[in-house]
Amino acid sequence: MGRSWTMTVFTQCALFILLWVALYMGKSEKPRRASPLDLYFISVGGGERPPSDRTLLLRQMEKTARFYKVKFIVSIAELGEEDPLVKNATLEFPSLKVPWYTSGSGRGYFWKQVSIPYDRFLDIFSVDTRSLQDCLQTRPATVDERDQLEWLVEKLKATNGIWHIVIGFHPLINCQGHKNIMKTKLFQPLHHIFQKYEVNVYLSRQEGAGHYIKEGTTAYIGNPIPAVVCNGITCNNACCIEGMHNGFLLHRVSPLEMESYYINSTGKIVFRSTLYQGRKEVM
Ligand SMILES: *[C@@H]1O[C@H](CO)[C@@H](O)[C@H](O)[C@H]1NC(C)=O
Ligand SMILES: *[C@@H]1O[C@H](CO)[C@@H](O)[C@H](O)[C@H]1NC(C)=O
Repeated sequence: MGRSWTMTVFTQCALFILLWVALYMGKSEKPRRASPLDLYFISVGGGERPPSDRTLLLRQMEKTARFYKVKFIVSIAELGEEDPLVKNATLEFPSLKVPWYTSGSGRGYFWKQVSIPYDRFLDIFSVDTRSLQDCLQTRPATVDERDQLEWLVEKLKATNGIWHIVIGFHPLINCQGHKNIMKTKLFQPLHHIFQKYEVNVYLSRQEGAGHYIKEGTTAYIGNPIPAVVCNGITCNNACCIEGMHNGFLLHRVSPLEMESYYINSTGKIVFRSTLYQGRKEVM
């Protein structure tokens, strides 16, 4: 009798603890590990930061890269490969010694193809928004600039990759604490190409805070960089991501979906977005 009563109390306690753990775990959100085959990569905005901020950010990236076995890092930095973040990362943080694909300003364009599970591919096209922008604003396009757009279209047409990611230094859409989303002059010509050739994501940098804006079938994702003039920007609209000062993004890619986690330098996920694969041949 006494023994079965003890058992009941024990079982009740055990159930209560399990329930509590389940609830607690449900609350503390972590990036999902949906399949061990999924590919993970990080994207980050480069540029100058106080050394303590840089160390904090790199430590957090290192932890994440180790845990998720991140395959590569996309960085968006004015100085390209010469960016202090890239240099520090690859010198001092072992898990960040993976390929870095860096989109700079005025530093040319390139294409990389990466394998993802089930014999599929992800394409990364880095465009040089500085030269494209100059050409749209002040004068007719030079041969080189026209070449760049033609190059992008040709590559997009020819690729067998199922995810198309374009990276560029400048955001095409801005939302720095303003109510309205502001589209830059580069937006229309590039967005037109993105829609026609199924670009899933445009990754850029964004001063002050991150952003996430879906236009048509393309997601515009801004990687935060510490703002020079407007520190402590307050976000008051849907697209600007609060709490992302000095953060980075972790992306999980499977053939069917791509999830992006906005992680700040204290390791908190402040925002998450999911894109689903639209290409029928994948299903
Ligand atoms: C990073 O690189 C700078 C030079 O770019 C160097 O002075 C510094 O010691 C490095 N380490 C860290 C953790 O910032
Ligand atoms: C990180 O995010 C958490 C939760 O949103 C927030 O409380 C914290 O202030 C953020 N930290 C930084 C450094 O942005």
